[in-house]
Amino acid sequence: MSCFDSADESAHYGFSVCMLLQQYREQLGWESAPVVELGTGDASAIADVVAGLPGLRVHSYDISADSVQSARANIAERGVSDRYTVELGDFFDQADAVGGEPVTTAIANPPYIPAPDRDILMPELWGGVRGNDLTLQLLKAGYDNVITAVASYADPVTTLSTAADLGYRVVNFLAMGLDYGPYSREPKVREHIRRLVAEGRGWAGDDEYMVAVALLTRDPAIPGDRADQLLHALQLEV
Ligand SMILES: C[S@@+](CC[C@H](N)C(=O)[O-])C[C@H]1O[C@@H](n2cnc3c(N)ncnc32)[C@H](O)[C@@H]1O
Repeated sequence: MSCFDSADESAHYGFSVCMLLQQYREQLGWESAPVVELGTGDASAIADVVAGLPGLRVHSYDISADSVQSARANIAERGVSDRYTVELGDFFDQADAVGGEPVTTAIANPPYIPAPDRDILMPELWGGVRGNDLTLQLLKAGYDNVITAVASYADPVTTLSTAADLGYRVVNFLAMGLDYGPYSREPKVREHIRRLVAEGRGWAGDDEYMVAVALLTRDPAIPGDRADQLLHALQLEV
């Protein structure tokens, strides 16, 4: 079975999404409108968040049939199938509106593995040559609020400058150091990451990197901009 499997990273993503949704509950308005998710994986992290936040509804999409199958089983096991749905397919083909309801908030631990091409351990995790293709696509999709994982080796400076050009501010974030998992450790990927870091397009240690889960907004009702702090947390100079 080919399904994204990284317990530490998924837990970091789920915990951070939960913290940010709670801290900005009123401004994000998720109790009255659904949230969409790019990339369900096995759904375990966000299923727990949905279980813990009774007003939350999430519509999720994944291009991996194995992931969707595991996700549906995990969601059913946690008893949240009525509020956490999963569709097999490309997020960008489907998520503009859900059942006619406007959506203002998207969440994602997007594919961010940088590599010269898609021929890697799990091709669905390919994030393009610099790793941030899907993150940039998500930012360009027009949601007012985006909660997304940002990896220190996937050209975060370009990600945040593009976000700023699109009118987004970094409201807040949670950052965590992670050891390389099987996808980053693959020799072809590890070598590519080394090259990106040498070119000044990110940060990684010998066997570690940083991932921040950040809330970006274009909503003037949510103040603040912590973009510089986020880059510092990812070990980058600003
Ligand atoms: C890093 S994993 C995250 C999974 C899960 N959210 C987690 O954190 O445990 C990214 C997921 O995005 C999925 N994916 C990749 N491209 C996609 C697309 N265009 N639309 C929907 N899902 C996609 C992959 O199959 C993979 O399951």
